Amino acid sequence: MKKGNILIKSAAEVVTCSGFKAKGGAEMQDLKVIPNGSVVIEDGVIKAVGLTEEILKQYDESKYEVIDATGKAVLPGFVDSHTHFVFGGYRAEEFSWRLKGVNYMEIMERGGGILSSVRATKEASHEELYQSGMKRLDSMLAFGVTTVEGKSGYGLDLETEVKQLEVMKQVNENHPIDVISTFLGAHAVPMEYKGKEDDFIDYMTDEVLPVVAEKQLATFCDIFCEKKVFSVEQSRRHLTKAKELGFKIKLHADEIVQLGGAELSAELGAVSADHLLQASDQGVADMAEKGVIATLLPGTAFSLKEDFARGRYMIDQGCAVALATDLNPGSCFTESIPLIFSLATLYMKMTTEEAITALTINGAAAVDQADTIGSIDVGKKGDVIILEFPSYHFIPYHIGVSTVEKVIKNGVLVFDKERGDGKLC
Ligand code: NIG
Ligand code: FE
Repeated sequence: MKKGNILIKSAAEVVTCSGFKAKGGAEMQDLKVIPNGSVVIEDGVIKAVGLTEEILKQYDESKYEVIDATGKAVLPGFVDSHTHFVFGGYRAEEFSWRLKGVNYMEIMERGGGILSSVRATKEASHEELYQSGMKRLDSMLAFGVTTVEGKSGYGLDLETEVKQLEVMKQVNENHPIDVISTFLGAHAVPMEYKGKEDDFIDYMTDEVLPVVAEKQLATFCDIFCEKKVFSVEQSRRHLTKAKELGFKIKLHADEIVQLGGAELSAELGAVSADHLLQASDQGVADMAEKGVIATLLPGTAFSLKEDFARGRYMIDQGCAVALATDLNPGSCFTESIPLIFSLATLYMKMTTEEAITALTINGAAAVDQADTIGSIDVGKKGDVIILEFPSYHFIPYHIGVSTVEKVIKNGVLVFDKERGDGKLC
């Protein structure tokens, strides 16, 4: 990907989110804002950040593409650390069934839900999945996302899991957004394995996981640890082998039923445990102690009409909370960052500052990249967004509407609403 030289000057404020690791508890409140700030990016990397007065004394504007950010706030690009953006088909009717009272897990048990996306993903060609994946990332970019995590899990067999991961690799090579790939082969139990869940875990663990490792197609391994899907014991077995093969670990944990996924994430030293709507007090305490990121996905709770995860409680217990969209064709078909801000602040009792930390430096930590992205710090990637408004307070205040005017990725302007058509540059 291209790397650029840009000087963003005279911003009303630069919200640096400064830091090189996850922020837990009260630290999430501190955004480290520089009023009247400027940012210099050279060869795609942040070279300097500080007061405009000082930056303009030290750096010669004529050597850079200059963006005047007068009256605008500048922030790090958002990191959407939990999505399933590569999939075939849609499940729009399912949404309507749920409105009539049919339950999400019942739909899956009857062979719909995730299993219906599995059928459609098996049928889709690599090219079809690639084109739809690229389009979804275009939409995310317009919301200010500069790094996204994407999961497989709509294959449930070697061939289709590998196909999904290869699509993500190609998207990563060709789209401005960076893609971090996660292997989620243990996402659901295929019909032919009903009642033989252990055999399916053996297959995923012994036959699929080593191939994905060998081909270096994923950084993380994840599992849907849930009642009637995979037990804590099956999850432990699968993820332990994944760790041995060099994967970092994530879990879909305690989403519908309190099963002990949060506790397991701490036991295994997972990078993050995600969903956590039903996480126990002990699970939250264990995660805080072991530094497991709590990745909360309020769009999913909203879409499934479940109670929200206890974001306020988790932060008060010292957890580092990340927020993500969980974009997927079933439980949460949205890539809307403004929606996530609204739900986190209005319903999960998170402050605006905490929500921003959760989508920047803590999102970066949830993909184990807090040393290179997630904040405006010297030496990090030049991934920066410029809002149409002078302060970060406008992000949740402008309900449901994106406040992002420009997106800069590796020092290159890749999205600019001001150019009129809202398309990629
Ligand atoms: O994170 N909970 C399991 N997996 C996804 C949903 C996938 C789907 O419904 O297609 C989630 O919500
Ligand atoms: Fe998910």
